[in-house]
Amino acid sequence: MGIETKSISIEKVKTSRIDQIDFNNLAFGSVFTDHMLVCDYKNGAWELPKIVPYQNISLDPSSKIFHYGQSIFEGMKAYKDKNDAIFLFRPLDNHKRFNISANRMCIPEIPEDYFMDGLTTLLKLDSAFIPTNAGSSLYIRPFMFASGKGFHASPADEYKFIIACAPSGAYFAGEVKVLIEQTYSRSANGGVGFAKAGGNYAGQFYPTQLAIAKGYNQVIWTDDTEHEYIEEAGAMNIFVRINDTLITGPTSDRILDGITRKSIIEIAKKEGIPVEVRKITVTEVVNAAKAGTLKEMFGAGTAAVISPISAFGFKDTDYALPKLDTPYAQRIKKIITDIQYNKSDDPYGWRY
Ligand code: COI
Repeated sequence: MGIETKSISIEKVKTSRIDQIDFNNLAFGSVFTDHMLVCDYKNGAWELPKIVPYQNISLDPSSKIFHYGQSIFEGMKAYKDKNDAIFLFRPLDNHKRFNISANRMCIPEIPEDYFMDGLTTLLKLDSAFIPTNAGSSLYIRPFMFASGKGFHASPADEYKFIIACAPSGAYFAGEVKVLIEQTYSRSANGGVGFAKAGGNYAGQFYPTQLAIAKGYNQVIWTDDTEHEYIEEAGAMNIFVRINDTLITGPTSDRILDGITRKSIIEIAKKEGIPVEVRKITVTEVVNAAKAGTLKEMFGAGTAAVISPISAFGFKDTDYALPKLDTPYAQRIKKIITDIQYNKSDDPYGWRY
């Protein structure tokens, strides 16, 4: 059994801010629920989690998060069905990955009951913030960082685990155009690419800004040595469809083990879609685009769900993807979102 829910102290807001939220025009991750979960690690142990009004946090200027970036996060979503029942999608996998990231960044693991009981208590309290409009959900951001003090470049002795939630619409507002990156690298063998470490994302901002200035939304990262293997897109994993086969790169030290990614692979197999998890070269993708055999490219992630890519850029040339009547992206997205929003059976046991 988990920590007893009664051991999570709850301080409720005096006045809810829910009326200030325009649920018909939700951006991604920019308005927040009334409460957040906070848990402190001190003297070698996690203290009991607390739910408090969503608020600023106060930290010593020498806290190691500011100097050495000792910080990790997860991305999850809560969904409501037509009867207002609340669902999560494979949340134990997020907890597991959170601790994999924590280990790599020398952050103490958070016990499963703190994570799950804290999250479900918070969601029940702020359930009115879970949107019901099509395509919207409550984006959940669990994160942990070094709050301990000192300029010494070594792991902190104190940490904070927080869960904050944001009623959210789609991550991408319109078409997604990506640029295959061959100068900068996101990660390297032996590095932290597989972890959801904050710095992995900050390091992408500059190359992504250069790509945005050229009219793209995202960069597709390639391997750091040859810049020839397609890896991931930073905010999402990448799938390509050549003829009828769906292909995605294998996870590694450098690629995030996406929960949406692995769900898509399982769904494709069950649907009889030929699916290959193998290295994909840029040359193969460009040649397939030239030959007309590249049928689809899409990104997959919690925030991005399944985001079809309309075109990709490579060495000053843009390659448009064809518009198909029933692309795999649309077919698989319906299966996955029907499970998430409790609109279908869940033969995989993913709905929680
Ligand atoms: C997510 O998909 O939840 C992520 O963490 C990606 C982030 C860049 C929004």
